Amino acid sequence: MFVLPFLALALALVVAPAAAQDYSAAHNVTPITGTWTTLSHAVITGTFANPANLTFNYPDNTGVGYAFSDDGFYEVARYRFNGNGSNPACITGVMNWHHGKYSLLANGSIVLNPFGDGYQQIQDPCAAESNFIENYNVTELISQWNLIDDPNDGLKLFLFGADGTPVAPLYQVYSTANMLPTEALRNVTPSVDAVSLVALNSGARSWSPASAVSAVVGAFALGLASLIL
Ligand SMILES: *[C@@H]1O[C@H](CO)[C@@H](O)[C@H](O)[C@H]1NC(C)=O
Ligand SMILES: *[C@@H]1O[C@H](CO)[C@@H](O)[C@H](O)[C@H]1NC(C)=O
Ligand SMILES: *[C@@H]1O[C@H](CO)[C@@H](O)[C@H](O)[C@H]1NC(C)=O
Ligand SMILES: *[C@@H]1O[C@H](CO)[C@@H](O)[C@H](O)[C@H]1NC(C)=O
Repeated sequence: MFVLPFLALALALVVAPAAAQDYSAAHNVTPITGTWTTLSHAVITGTFANPANLTFNYPDNTGVGYAFSDDGFYEVARYRFNGNGSNPACITGVMNWHHGKYSLLANGSIVLNPFGDGYQQIQDPCAAESNFIENYNVTELISQWNLIDDPNDGLKLFLFGADGTPVAPLYQVYSTANMLPTEALRNVTPSVDAVSLVALNSGARSWSPASAVSAVVGAFALGLASLIL
């Protein structure tokens, strides 16, 4: 299974040097399989969420993690802060987790179909409810993706959201998918709303605004704000 990408790369180098590292066209034969995380390496699927009791294992740093198995399952873990241009003190923190089955579409997009047991914790100091947990059952579209074999960093995965916004580059931490069991891991009453409140003031841990501010300021300083999906 590891032979294919290198074979594809070798062929691509011979056939089309300009697009040598772009695998997206080879979508159906190129394994996206593995466990991937952003530069901080802090957010890793499989160890991020405890769906049975709606808690999280809070990473030391922000980031995004994805895992894709070769039999069609995915898991997503995100820990991020969203700044507020009109009020810098109003930074929203989000811990988001979901898993399910993914489909590689013929046009190069990937659809993530969740099992329905996903959830997220929102911390918003400026909102009436400053800390709450809600169900997250959103079918996400990765509009396009590509994979490069970087001489320094190894395999790097580039994903683009539904609106084309890039996710920060993802580094491969394991060649296989590190994920929780690939089935619904808690009972959720089916809802027509993809996002619906589960718990207010649930005793969920809150995180430090100071680290939020430095994370957001750091992201802006690096010009990466739009990369933090
Ligand atoms: C939630 O579940 C995880 C994993 O089983 C456990 O480690 C953790 O202590 C639990 N937390 C609470 C608040 O029950
Ligand atoms: C920004 O903060 C203000 C409160 O100062 C709030 O009303 C507004 O909804 C926030 N905007 C976003 C995008 O969160
Ligand atoms: C691929 O097809 C899906 C389903 O029709 C669509 O939602 C998506 O936007 C398409 N992707 C691109 C890159 O056009
Ligand atoms: C999740 O969304 C799907 C598709 O909209 C829906 O069929 C399913 O019932 C939802 N699950 C829950 C638990 O709400």
